[in-house]
Amino acid sequence: MSKRVRSIVVLISGRGSNLAALVDYAQNSPDFVVAGVVSNRADAPGLAFASSQGIPTEVVDHALFGSREAFEHALAGVVDLFKSDAVVLAGFMRILTPSFVNRYAGRLINIHPSLLPAFPGLNTHERALEAGVRVHGATVHLVTAQLDHGPILDQAVVQVHENDTPEALARRVLELEHRMLPRAVSAFLHGKLKAKGERVPGALRLPLLTALSTTVAPE
Ligand code: GRF
Repeated sequence: MSKRVRSIVVLISGRGSNLAALVDYAQNSPDFVVAGVVSNRADAPGLAFASSQGIPTEVVDHALFGSREAFEHALAGVVDLFKSDAVVLAGFMRILTPSFVNRYAGRLINIHPSLLPAFPGLNTHERALEAGVRVHGATVHLVTAQLDHGPILDQAVVQVHENDTPEALARRVLELEHRMLPRAVSAFLHGKLKAKGERVPGALRLPLLTALSTTVAPE
């Protein structure tokens, strides 16, 4: 593979802490650059952060379009301006149609705060606690037309504690997301994570990021 610097465009809707983790990683390693950030919300705090780092930003406000297709047509036009190797959904809160997903097939990456295929969709931390699972976590995966589904690039695992709250669990998961996402994106861009059908065999060779305790809680 050539020495050309790989680049990504990051799609966000809000806070942008995963975006910040990607930018931090990119600034400290020659692995890839963040070419641009696109948000569907003009007030997304992640946009101000990107600008403060000198990264070009664009807003495509979904509320200004009459249909999902029209929004995505405009979104794709902006995403394509950045001519990136991969498109990373980092807290991008719009459901994408198969047509958009197919346009970026094989290079569209999402981070989801659960151990997929468990808990696709919203409120994953609440749902994990309600289900009584012992372990929870996050997944980085290639996007397919099915929501929160697709070849798994990496997963990180946290232990559920006695008296855990969704907020506390979310904090612990997010900490691992910030370590996992840049690492997975870098490995993907450098050909170390390639999908073979539904699976990404190389994913199993990445050291597993965990926040697990071996101590047993007293009865
Ligand atoms: C993260 O938990 C991510 O997994 C999910 O949305 C959240 C985005 O947080 N898709 P942030 O905007 O990156 O801080």
